[in-house]
Amino acid sequence: MADTTSPKTNPASSPKSGTSSPKAASPPGAPLKHGRTYHAYKAGQYLLPNDDVSTVRGEVERNTDHLLAKEKPIKRVFEAGCGTGIWAIDFADGYPEASVVGIDLSPVQPEFVPPNLEFFVDDLESDWTFVQPFDFIYCRLLTGSILDWPKRFGQTFTHLHPGGYIELFDTLNPLVSDDGTLTEDSGLSKWNRLLVEASEKLGRPLNSYTSYTKQLADAGFVNIVDTRFKWPMNTWPKDAQDKNGVQAVSLMLFTNVLGWTADQAEVLLVDVRKDAKNRAIHRYWPIHAVYAQKPE
Ligand SMILES: C[S@@+](CC[C@H](N)C(=O)[O-])C[C@H]1O[C@@H](n2cnc3c(N)ncnc32)[C@H](O)[C@@H]1O
Repeated sequence: MADTTSPKTNPASSPKSGTSSPKAASPPGAPLKHGRTYHAYKAGQYLLPNDDVSTVRGEVERNTDHLLAKEKPIKRVFEAGCGTGIWAIDFADGYPEASVVGIDLSPVQPEFVPPNLEFFVDDLESDWTFVQPFDFIYCRLLTGSILDWPKRFGQTFTHLHPGGYIELFDTLNPLVSDDGTLTEDSGLSKWNRLLVEASEKLGRPLNSYTSYTKQLADAGFVNIVDTRFKWPMNTWPKDAQDKNGVQAVSLMLFTNVLGWTADQAEVLLVDVRKDAKNRAIHRYWPIHAVYAQKPE
């Protein structure tokens, strides 16, 4: 991964295939499958399409003021897997004295951003070559994205200042309901079980959260705090519950990993969409914010 202290001139982590400038060198044609487009840089590595990136809203949206307010001034911040960049933009706006860097496989971030923020296309799973350490590294909804979490936590540890923080924010599968309105035999539950099974086969489990606290401790982090929230599926944007959203999280895992045809997947998705629209099913994902500190 690029040393972002001088991003426009330094090579990215894999100079032969990547670039550290999303706008300048985004590949001309993103790979197309089943009518959806996927990231072109390191194509096939990440499971979700990049043509309809829903931003995270509602319960999931939260800031890190609780963490930062009591700490010394934040000078360097890194968002790993920043997606549309909404968190990084908000953060850069809120902390104009901080220098913020966001990295993603897809160049789906806006062109006009706060002056203290830069986005790069790069691969988190490459070796990180940042020269200057960060005060804060943020990772939101990266479950299912990473093959080797212990290695990433080791890199995060190395690239933080002593006393710096990592914060992760991730869902825990399966979907649940507190009142029994989501049953085991519903289309939603079946779909969710299959997604988890496929992600485990792929080696990028959608339940990576369950190991975070141990893996962070093993990497040397201290003061680990884990807070649980609920992310009701009803708060998904309408479109995310509709054809595109459900299809987006399913297609690659069902066809590439479980070996289904797209038509077979569509048959299951009919029931999933029906359940997803049913507000009588009070389902939610448990979601966890885990933060940890590199010892001073
Ligand atoms: C579910 S999205 C979350 C985006 C953002 N963090 C948010 O909360 O809105 C996961 C993001 O991680 C990115 N990603 C997955 N694997 C990656 C990798 N190896 N390197 C860089 N970005 C990656 C994807 O392209 C996608 O934008």
